[in-house]
Amino acid sequence: MTKKHTLFLLLFTACLGLGATGLLQSCETKAEKGKSEHAAATAAEGAAAVKRLPFGKLKNGTEAYLYTLTNKHNTQATFTDYGGRLVSLQVPDKNGKMTDVVAGMSGVAAYASNTDAYFGATIGRYGNRIANGKFTLDGKEYTLSVNNGANTLHGGKKGFQKVMWEAQQPDARSVVFQYLAKDMEEGFPGNLHVKVTYTLTDENELRMDYEATTDKPTVVNLTNHAYFNLNGEGSGDILGHRLQINADTYTPVDATLIPTGKLAPVAGTPFDFRKPTPIGASIETENEQLTNGKGYDHNYVLNKEKSTGMTRAASVTGDKSGIVMDVYTLEPGLQFYSGNFMKGKNTFKGGSKDDYRTAFCLETQHFPDSPNQPSFPSTVLKPGETYRTSTVYKFAVQK
Ligand code: GAL
Repeated sequence: MTKKHTLFLLLFTACLGLGATGLLQSCETKAEKGKSEHAAATAAEGAAAVKRLPFGKLKNGTEAYLYTLTNKHNTQATFTDYGGRLVSLQVPDKNGKMTDVVAGMSGVAAYASNTDAYFGATIGRYGNRIANGKFTLDGKEYTLSVNNGANTLHGGKKGFQKVMWEAQQPDARSVVFQYLAKDMEEGFPGNLHVKVTYTLTDENELRMDYEATTDKPTVVNLTNHAYFNLNGEGSGDILGHRLQINADTYTPVDATLIPTGKLAPVAGTPFDFRKPTPIGASIETENEQLTNGKGYDHNYVLNKEKSTGMTRAASVTGDKSGIVMDVYTLEPGLQFYSGNFMKGKNTFKGGSKDDYRTAFCLETQHFPDSPNQPSFPSTVLKPGETYRTSTVYKFAVQK
């Protein structure tokens, strides 16, 4: 390692000691540092305290920014307008130590050059896969941008994760991202206006409210693709996390991760997370579905607890931190992805690599390939209708 590298690393690590958000603020100027130390106090003063911070430039010169939300517990969520993306989330662990539970990168250039473009991003126009990049709507066949073998994944080559969103931060508790996906962008019909509002509540909930309208019939399936490690970003694999998913069935997939169309019971299989179970308990079991997914990469069909309102979808506990994350959603499905494609090729903001299974995703969603699966809940949106959905990630510590 050269001296220059060592110096950079030292500086980087020193900055990170202050926490990811603190870092990005404190590495600006001394005046900024003073402000970041009083972030909680100033946040409470309202809109006057809200400001964005630079997050670097894309190759084409476009500048990206960071937006920080803070609540009364000093919990902090940081977002960037590149991909309408969650960059970090600092929550207290069982000892009160602030822990960054979201894996993210140190600047916009790192996100743009990442081998996995999805870290923390808002995903659309269609979350997860559409078989062979084709679907038929009102008798017309549409051909999409294909980016995952023969299939379309997460909206195509330039899904919502790779575009700049227009950002507004009305107050210290929320940030609003908007994006207009043009008619036929990535092959999807209709100008789709998308709005995502992220809110950090005093109950330590990160709330995501999505809205979309179109001028032609289209398909929509929006989600957030945060990669979590509840023991903290870069603190080893997630196999010891205890996971509970409120689902009796899931949608099995073929070898290209397209659902077969059937719903399979989880009972008696490695897919049974109805009771809290370590993620690693059965992940290496000989099982065709685990082979197809290279681990867990499956859509769970959520049990509906009541006819209206949000369903409690899942609960996860970090075995070392005691941090508990509960997931609530209006969506019918939940993609549980155990980080099987992570290969240590990208560097997180804390300096560690994105090693195999060092983070997991719980993406609330409609089922993969719904546009080609008549028995799945519909993802069609028509002009005059408003797509609305919400998801909450709620944080606490194990008692
Ligand atoms: C998941 C998807 C996985 C993988 C991951 C991103 O949502 O189901 O197969 O593509 O995103 O790497």
